[in-house]
Amino acid sequence: MYETSGRGLIPAFGAEGASLRLQSAQHLYCVSASVRRTNCCRLIYSASVLVMKEIVFTKAVNLSKAIIPYRHRMFIRKILGMAALSDDDFVGCTNREIFSRTYEKKLWGWSGTRKYYSGHGSHEREVVTGYVNALEHFLVGLAGPKIIVDLGCGDFNVGSRLVHLASKYIACDIVDGLLKENRKLFKYDNLEFKELDLVNDEIPMSDVIIVRQVLQHLSNNDIHKFIDKIHHRCKYLIVTEHLPIRSDFLPNIDKPSGPGFRVSFESGVILTEPPFNLLVLNSQVLCEFKERDGIIRTFAYRLQ
Ligand SMILES: C[S@@+](CC[C@H](N)C(=O)[O-])C[C@H]1O[C@@H](n2cnc3c(N)ncnc32)[C@H](O)[C@@H]1O
Repeated sequence: MYETSGRGLIPAFGAEGASLRLQSAQHLYCVSASVRRTNCCRLIYSASVLVMKEIVFTKAVNLSKAIIPYRHRMFIRKILGMAALSDDDFVGCTNREIFSRTYEKKLWGWSGTRKYYSGHGSHEREVVTGYVNALEHFLVGLAGPKIIVDLGCGDFNVGSRLVHLASKYIACDIVDGLLKENRKLFKYDNLEFKELDLVNDEIPMSDVIIVRQVLQHLSNNDIHKFIDKIHHRCKYLIVTEHLPIRSDFLPNIDKPSGPGFRVSFESGVILTEPPFNLLVLNSQVLCEFKERDGIIRTFAYRLQ
């Protein structure tokens, strides 16, 4: 006769039965411990393989970026049939379509762990840490509680490090799926994710608007529409842009809205220069970091 237990069928009678039960239990214990050990080894092995793949891939990408100029890299992507990072491929699309496809096709790269990845400038440790420190210093210097609106918040690797500095943090982006992923990953009482098109939608009132590496992807027409709306919506506008290394570049050369940016043709967005001529009470550079293709510079503008 057998009785059932959580570990299987076990003989139920007498001393012999008890000894058999003990042996059986010991055997089952050993088997389950060994299964646990094997599973644990498998897990550690898979995690190590993933980490190794990530390291090798990142190193290969970084090396290719260091030795192959941007234009040539894009050309190579195109002839290899990889989705091209050319803005021309998106002509006629809405900004929502453009940036959803940019993420879907991983045109800004990928991390291995997340579906949405906002690119190197959002993850390079030195750039992100330096930016967060500079913003912390700036925001702590402003009196009172601060409502911060982050326009084009992306995968929120950067924004998530600023939430504690705000009384309320409204993180906005145009890509719905990205926001859904962000909502699952980042939960704070003072944080709200909002689907918003900074070109066409109304921008919430705040003390500080942050626009980090977003305008560089937009056409001059879209940037104009944004600028026309922000007056009296905030006191400070903090803008981060990818700019050419040489300081005598011609700013604000137009381009279609898309995943590319102006550095590839030696230009970059400076809002206080023509044709935008943003009127400010004062401006300061909060931080800047050299990137292989250029400089990532952050301006703080006190708006009129
Ligand atoms: C390169 S990512 C930068 C993300 C983030 N600000 C950072 O620095 O890590 C640019 C982001 O801007 C968003 N974006 C582009 N056009 C937008 C628009 N019109 N309104 C709101 N977000 C926009 C994109 O979806 C993308 O997430």
